[in-house]
Amino acid sequence: MQTMGQQQKRRSWAEPYKIKMVEPLKMTSRPEREKAIAEAGYNTFLLRSDDVYIDLLTDSGTSAMSDRQWAGLMMGDEAYAGSRNFYDLEEKVRQYYGYRFMVPTHQGRGAEHLISKALISDGDFIPGNMYFTTTRLHQELAGGTFVDVIIDEAHDPQNSHPFKGNVDLAKVAALIDRVGADKIPYLSIAGTVNMAGGQPVSMANVRELRTLLNRHGIKLYLDATRMIENAYFIKEREEGYQDRTIAEILLEFCNYTDGAWMSAKKDHLVNIGGWLAVNDEAVFQKISNLVVIYEGLHTYGGMAGRDMQALAIGITEAVQYDHIRARVEQVRYLGNLLLDWSIPIVRPIGSHAIFLDALAIYSHLPQEVFPAQSLAAELYVDSGIRAMERGIVSAGRDAQTGAHRLPKLELVRLTIPRRVYTQSHMDVVAEAVKEVYDKRKEATGLKMVYEPEYLRFFQARFERL
Ligand code: F0G
Repeated sequence: MQTMGQQQKRRSWAEPYKIKMVEPLKMTSRPEREKAIAEAGYNTFLLRSDDVYIDLLTDSGTSAMSDRQWAGLMMGDEAYAGSRNFYDLEEKVRQYYGYRFMVPTHQGRGAEHLISKALISDGDFIPGNMYFTTTRLHQELAGGTFVDVIIDEAHDPQNSHPFKGNVDLAKVAALIDRVGADKIPYLSIAGTVNMAGGQPVSMANVRELRTLLNRHGIKLYLDATRMIENAYFIKEREEGYQDRTIAEILLEFCNYTDGAWMSAKKDHLVNIGGWLAVNDEAVFQKISNLVVIYEGLHTYGGMAGRDMQALAIGITEAVQYDHIRARVEQVRYLGNLLLDWSIPIVRPIGSHAIFLDALAIYSHLPQEVFPAQSLAAELYVDSGIRAMERGIVSAGRDAQTGAHRLPKLELVRLTIPRRVYTQSHMDVVAEAVKEVYDKRKEATGLKMVYEPEYLRFFQARFERL
């Protein structure tokens, strides 16, 4: 037995901020939630946020801004052209990401649209480390075909590879052999792969990838949406990076790439915004011409001056170690509670969300009755917690055959907004998931009764089977 003196001292750490303003939450009754989800066609995207208790739909645009960012809003320069906030933002992107040229966009998909239009021609192939919904769609709309070149481990929810976002270089080489380098304008790499469960890419992998692509004259563009979270994992897991700052790791990683697009609604702690940055001056000329057609003038790109200011400040806050540690560790706290109860989730625990393995939880349901969509609906009915399907509905239909794509991962994403919820909220979420898990045998699945043409997961409607 331990005496008092021998007992380990308990030294907890806590969120690196205090709360200045609160937003009350409303609890609903189970019958109210049954009605709400039926009216929403069993699609959590179609719920009213007023009917939601803890909102884990997404970490996109849902962050709490800091007092400095709110102060930044008051410094908005709403000039149509040449706003001072633009120059501030441009300087921060250069300083932290290292790219020479930047255009703002209204959000990430605006930037995806521009880069796809600027670089992809009909019949091209765009390899990437797993698809993301809007990224792939813009590549396809520009005439390209997406090819998944992520390592096989990423498609296995139980594989604990530390860098499950890595690109399989052999798959890239095979694609080059098959279609020829001139049909591959660029490889699209995402920092922390959203659809794989928020899994990171290692520095070694991007370095080797760059060498391979250089041999064939293929460019490398980065989806930097959650690249700061990726940098945290590199610091934690990769030999030689423990003593490097998040900012140094971010800059080194970006240095292997030719440019990046950004949904600032994630890493950068703002509610709206994005940008597209490149090193090549000719590409910059193209995108800064395209931006005026689709987004706005090249010095605002669809954003208000004040929003660019909040974003510029957000970049500097996002790379602070205390911030990013609290962010990733809060997600890990929730995940570990679920693992303690043997609830199947994607491992290792990623940076922005916990992904419930719906195929393992609802093992009695075939993928065609939408197990993840059903699980997200049941979780909402149980407790008012809103999550999101990331499985067969999100994957959509094959562009050629029109059949459902059947992804290996059929997941429910519990996405944690940044700086919004406390550890107690995580406890409540874990207990609700446990309740739904315990009742898993009762689930019967759904049928789709309305399917929109593009990005169907946002607006599709279902009925209970
Ligand atoms: N890339 C990644 C990796 C994303 O996660 C998102 C958005 C985008 C690009 C597009 O950016 O929404 O600003 O237009 N992801 C959100 C999500 C919607 O919930 O994961 P956007």
